[in-house]
Amino acid sequence: MELAELTDDRVKLLVSKQEDWFCDTNAGRLMDISCGNQTYIWGYSHFFISAAIQWSQRNVSWVNYKASESCEQVDKLANSMVTDSGLHSVAWAVSGTDAVELAFYLKNLYHNANNPNRQEVLCFSPGYSGTSFLPAILRGDFKMPWCHIVDTGIWPTIDARASYEETTLQKVEDLLKTNRNIGTVFMESMPWIEKFRPWSDTWWQSIRQLCDLYDCLLIVDDVMGGYGKTGYHKFTHRSMDVMPDLVTSGKSLTAGFSPLSSVCMTEKVTRAVINKFGFSHTWSPNLSGVAAANYINKNWAEDYAWAHVNEKFNILIADRLRSGHIKQGWYQGLVCSMELINPITHLDLIQAGIMPSGFGLYYDANHLTICVPLLAYWNVTDAEIYWDNLNERLDRALGNT
Ligand SMILES: Cc1ncc(COP(=O)(O)O)c(C=O)c1O
Repeated sequence: MELAELTDDRVKLLVSKQEDWFCDTNAGRLMDISCGNQTYIWGYSHFFISAAIQWSQRNVSWVNYKASESCEQVDKLANSMVTDSGLHSVAWAVSGTDAVELAFYLKNLYHNANNPNRQEVLCFSPGYSGTSFLPAILRGDFKMPWCHIVDTGIWPTIDARASYEETTLQKVEDLLKTNRNIGTVFMESMPWIEKFRPWSDTWWQSIRQLCDLYDCLLIVDDVMGGYGKTGYHKFTHRSMDVMPDLVTSGKSLTAGFSPLSSVCMTEKVTRAVINKFGFSHTWSPNLSGVAAANYINKNWAEDYAWAHVNEKFNILIADRLRSGHIKQGWYQGLVCSMELINPITHLDLIQAGIMPSGFGLYYDANHLTICVPLLAYWNVTDAEIYWDNLNERLDRALGNT
């Protein structure tokens, strides 16, 4: 079905018991917990976004000389990104990977202008960061002398997080102290590659302090974490009350409807790069991405959804702890992860009417991770439909009924 064909009633159907959007290979009807487009939207979507894209494609001319700089729509988006991030300026890219590449390019320009010897980088494993050569280096797939990877370990319980973080922070400090060529610390705002293990507030503050102490730039890769998944702010660092020097955004920036990503940066980085970074991608900032992002900004679901989701996760985890189906659970923003006591299979989920759908709901090694679609809150007057269905089907999948 085309997104453009969706009406409010259709959306209600998608999150209700009678949905008919996704079928398994036996034509069994499945609820896609993420309500479609899963991975890229990761919790943020609205079918009117495609209407906004179509409108702008018809109504905004992009053929004028330097139209991209002068266009009202781009200015509007740039202004809101600067305001929401609390940073000074924004540069555009196409995908999340591309934003990470751009952030590294900008930090190189910055160090060239200040101290060219400080191009080395400290980053963390496990991590992801994208599909190109640079992220592969940052993940440790290819060894480069300028890239220092600190293994964070994977905390087994939420209680163990503090000691894992403490040990890692010590390794970070040791490296920064002994290697003054490291001029940048790069971290993902929400490491997800190993069952979604969010950093603590203390971690964020300590990393910032270490960067200040050793005069390093802090790059936060918020491609996965931003737009509500780690809290009600569009940028994770605002929820953590810590300012990075550069921050990448992608995916949910356009709710996955169009390729657009960005790097926001501080004034000091902007000043160092302003006359050196004078070009842009062929497609960037592309019209459809800008229109989609502006539409999202205009309709950003306010406090109601965030508070409600957290309340619901709290109950969801407490109920399943009580029923003895999970060992532990944690959540942040729109994302929740639970460690199950008894293993289930993808078939159990499918038979309970849940589609394991990328990151909207995924199950791996006894961990079930759920990202709530804000679609369930947009124009669907009763978000309870989503929660009732989720709870009922989860119970079935975990063997409760
Ligand atoms: C933290 C992080 N950075 C970068 C990327 C790359 O984004 P894209 O796939 O849009 O290139 C991803 C993708 O999952 C990611 O999770």
